[in-house]
Amino acid sequence: MDMAKRALITGVTGQDGSYLSELLLEKGYDVHGMIRRSSVDYRERIAHLEGNPRFHLHYGDLGDSMSMMQVIGTVRPDEIYNLAAQSHVQVSFDVPEYTADVVAIGVLRVLEAVRLCGLAETCRIYQASTSELYGKVEEVPQRETTPFHPYSPYAVAKQYGFWIVREYREAYHMFCCSGILFNHESERRGETFVTRKITLAAARIAQGKQDKLYLGNLSSLRDWGYAKDYVECMWLILQNEKPEDYVIATGQQHSVREFATLAFHYAGIELEWQGEGLEEQGIDAADGRVLVEVSPDFYRPTDVVNLWGDPSKAKKELGWNPTRTSFEELVKIMVDHDMEKVAVERAEEHIKTNLEEYLEKGVVK
Ligand code: NAP
Ligand code: GDD
Repeated sequence: MDMAKRALITGVTGQDGSYLSELLLEKGYDVHGMIRRSSVDYRERIAHLEGNPRFHLHYGDLGDSMSMMQVIGTVRPDEIYNLAAQSHVQVSFDVPEYTADVVAIGVLRVLEAVRLCGLAETCRIYQASTSELYGKVEEVPQRETTPFHPYSPYAVAKQYGFWIVREYREAYHMFCCSGILFNHESERRGETFVTRKITLAAARIAQGKQDKLYLGNLSSLRDWGYAKDYVECMWLILQNEKPEDYVIATGQQHSVREFATLAFHYAGIELEWQGEGLEEQGIDAADGRVLVEVSPDFYRPTDVVNLWGDPSKAKKELGWNPTRTSFEELVKIMVDHDMEKVAVERAEEHIKTNLEEYLEKGVVK
């Protein structure tokens, strides 16, 4: 009989879901991913896993308790990784009610489905919590004991998720934990998060496909790690003897401006910064072209500007190495990926244009 562990991942099509699927498959798990119904079946980040006999997909939505009951009741997982969320902070100001439903009540739906399906004693649950809980920070760096001060509708919703997990742990003795993860990025990061927006723009500008990049708060500080390293911690948290919450971070902090400077450097452009606030500009040192400008469109009603995590507890208790991939390596991985992506797009455009011309001229029929 196959005794492989069964894991259910909500948010399997996201950045973290795709890396976690790969990790769990490598570890011999049967991986069940939950996906949302949509009019087009396009799942770029997990396309390479489909067809693997140990990788299964199920339709469900965190906004719908019945589908959660159905998926959890069918899969009867040993471990659930609840990664699904409306995860964009700026978007949470635009759709606060939807964000609250999925990001806050969605967690309750997972926990209740586990309990009602009779899995409370056997199923371990990981909740994707966030450094955004520290928001308008009350301590630097932030650790497990730092008071929360959520500073966006997204963060307020995640705070409910954090506390309901703790409540179920205490009330029903369930093995459920939160990983308080600081920002983690990769070549699979969504294109509207600041790091990926920068690496893609640097690649396009370097290859003549874009003139300028517009950003918001350049002085915002983040503790950026590599997503591939961080999913390992999610797994480690569930293999622990006791259910506990952990800060997962690198322990190093950089500004958006520093990220942009390094990304452009790897794309072959040295940026120099001039001016302040809305007038600040990133200028190409080689020819004086203005390549980066600040736009108030990317400022947030309340912005979190000083995130810096202390991963000591995870290092000591989980044996996790927070700096396996350095900041410089992370930026390089992302820029190299996007330079290649843009080069391929340019080649495809070139082939298409030539083909159209040949067809018009009758050279190719
Ligand atoms: P992501 O790339 O935005 O992925 C989000 C995933 O959630 C996608 O698979 C999305 O599906 C799914 N989803 C959204 N709404 C859903 C719903 N109503 N029902 C079911 N699935 C839904 O996010 P990520 O960067 O991988 O982050 C994973 C989790 O960690 C999130 O909970 C995020 O809030 C949290 N987190 C992330 C970071 C970070 O720096 N990345 C840090 C701390 C915490 P579609 O593909 O269909 O949209
Ligand atoms: N997105 C974006 N776009 N952010 C910008 C821009 C821009 O043009 N310009 C400056 N920023 C600043 C934001 O104001 C913020 O202070 C910082 O860059 C990081 O923004 P994001 O990359 O959008 O990430 P986030 O920190 O708000 O949220 C991410 O990390 C959280 C963990 O701390 C998301 O992945 C969340 O889901 C996650 O919980």
